[in-house]
Amino acid sequence: MEEKKSILSGIKPSGELTLGSYIGAIKNWVELSDSYNCYYMMADMHTITVRHEPAALRRRTLEQLALYIACGLDPQKNTIFIQSHVTEHAELAWVLNCYTMFGELSRMTQFKDKSAKNADNINAGLFTYPVLMAADILLYQADLVPVGDDQKQHVELTRDVAMRFNGIYGDVFTIPEPFIPKVGARIMSLQNPTSKMSKSESDPGGCICLLDKPEDIMRAFKRAVTDSDTVVRHDVKEKPGISNLMQIYAVCTGRTFEEIEREFAGKGYGDFKKAVGEATVELLRPLQEEFRRIYADKAYLEDVCAEGAQRARHRAAKTLAKVYKKVGFVPKKRQ
Ligand code: TRP
Repeated sequence: MEEKKSILSGIKPSGELTLGSYIGAIKNWVELSDSYNCYYMMADMHTITVRHEPAALRRRTLEQLALYIACGLDPQKNTIFIQSHVTEHAELAWVLNCYTMFGELSRMTQFKDKSAKNADNINAGLFTYPVLMAADILLYQADLVPVGDDQKQHVELTRDVAMRFNGIYGDVFTIPEPFIPKVGARIMSLQNPTSKMSKSESDPGGCICLLDKPEDIMRAFKRAVTDSDTVVRHDVKEKPGISNLMQIYAVCTGRTFEEIEREFAGKGYGDFKKAVGEATVELLRPLQEEFRRIYADKAYLEDVCAEGAQRARHRAAKTLAKVYKKVGFVPKKRQ
């Protein structure tokens, strides 16, 4: 039997999970669970590259874990773990640091953006962030890495580093490919529909969080930016706001863009925005109920973390041992 291909992805627990992370990432992850060997993590080590609050990081990491499960990621079928629980990530990152060029890291657009935004804290971790990400991916010999457009450059760097390493030492790493899902690849801000919906946005009205209350969700959709036209039609270039709302509505209802255009022919934007709000509330209702149930069960969450970390370590340790051997570290005989 041919072995299943492997997938690894992760989200930083730096803010609340958004409708964008659900539609653009987690929902797709759930669909991949059966056909691939999947590793999904809470990227807590990446979170500390910008200033953060420790108590909030702890809470959000566990919330994110409960949300992954509430969104349908089955911890039996997938290996779900907290990055910092698997020490191999930091260890491989160190080795890969020595095979990644200063110039390569200097060219990363995310580094340039983040150092402009955090001018008082351009730390070395922010600079080597992509190397830790390469370690995340390469430890599990991932074939595919589901990511948003903004992370594609990091996966490309991972490929370059892996190929460089393999070029010196033989076939150590699987060369991963970015995997950018077509549907809902990018859910945009409701206030600024040409930029990605993001929890760090300055205008909170542009972002729906998975745990938002129904009245807040309805209000955000009511205030969503549209255009001066009156027709509900999909046209990302000319009508980015309406197209984004159509994308969200399509995911919530399973309808196609043509069906939605027909449904709202002759109706105003007000009716359309209300329908999208209601559909989103209905999409999130069962998910929120499930979240509350799971989050209250701390013993269960601890078990999931422990089991996930154990499974992840099993795979990661194998890769790391191979890397240590290749670079010439003396093997540990007994622990
Ligand atoms: N850097 C990713 C983000 O900001 C999160 C992440 C960390 C990740 N490690 C990863 C994504 C490994 C995919 C694979 O969204």
